Amino acid sequence: MEPWLPHGRFPQARPRRLRHNPLVRDMVRQTSLAATDLIEPVFLRPGQGIMKPVASMPGVFQVSPDMAVRQATEALEAGIRAFLLFGIPAGKDPRGDAALDESGIVQEGLRAIRAALGDKVVLITDECFCEYTDHGHCGILGHSTGRLDLENDANLPRLATQCVSHARAGADIVAPSGMLDGMVAAIRRGLDAAGHSHTPIMSYAVKFASGYYGPFRDAAESPPQFGDRGSYQMDPANASEALRELALDLDEGADMVMVKPALAYLDIVRMVRDRCAVPVVAYNVSGEFAMVKAAAERGWIDERKVVLETLLGMRRAGADLIISYHARDAARWLRAG
Ligand code: PBG
Ligand code: ZN
Repeated sequence: MEPWLPHGRFPQARPRRLRHNPLVRDMVRQTSLAATDLIEPVFLRPGQGIMKPVASMPGVFQVSPDMAVRQATEALEAGIRAFLLFGIPAGKDPRGDAALDESGIVQEGLRAIRAALGDKVVLITDECFCEYTDHGHCGILGHSTGRLDLENDANLPRLATQCVSHARAGADIVAPSGMLDGMVAAIRRGLDAAGHSHTPIMSYAVKFASGYYGPFRDAAESPPQFGDRGSYQMDPANASEALRELALDLDEGADMVMVKPALAYLDIVRMVRDRCAVPVVAYNVSGEFAMVKAAAERGWIDERKVVLETLLGMRRAGADLIISYHARDAARWLRAG
């Protein structure tokens, strides 16, 4: 922190002077929140005409590609232009091979949305294997470390292949979420070799092993069938390690970096924002969404007020962009003023 300058004392100094006129209040508002700051998740599943509600996330659905077009169209009308795509495949196996299928669910979803909405939308793909493996871990398993664990190096080429496949199907940005060491470098090499040197990587650089992912695992049908993700996602107690993860990802060529979850980690968002020059993304995750929804349904909080305040708080902490299941509602509320 820079040295604090003298600001005067009461009664000369009266902070309320800038608060009594609502127009002046607007003029001195420091942080903004706009629909263009927000990214809406989309959960794709095979089929047609499918909109399957996610029980723990009111208003969120698993959608077939045709219905994803409808979802994106409605969001676009509200002012949301960017989407983060997840896929729930028809079948799972120990390796998650369905993720690499050129006609896989995310690839089909990308093509359907692109065909309908063209360059009006930015399509970001979550790059991981946990939705595709029958054991629910984020890639193939092995004993390299002496215990049964998520393999690291063996998953890197597969992750790069998934990204190339998504880029080829129309992804504008790839977002690797598996917290593998070296993932950004491997993906960069893979994309460049396949002619996608202009496709940015939004890295889940600082992702904690969080209880707040609970409802997502319903939505994506991806809970680990044994153990947890503690051997690849970060310990919630650690802050310095976030800087190490950040430095590595920047060095490997990350174009944007994400902090996830957001709400319990706003100190990390601020730290990351202050230490790098690339856009910072905060993921307002499923559990954060579910808590607000549950309290609002009971009438215990004012949903609109709380959602806008939470998203603004993430912006104030330093997030340039926010991935949120509230995106569309927030965009509508912002528009309504
Ligand atoms: C996949 C992934 C997860 C989330 C985003 N990508 C789940 C996890 O790591 O278990 C969580 C998103 C949310 O909770 O909203 N690795
Ligand atoms: Zn995963």
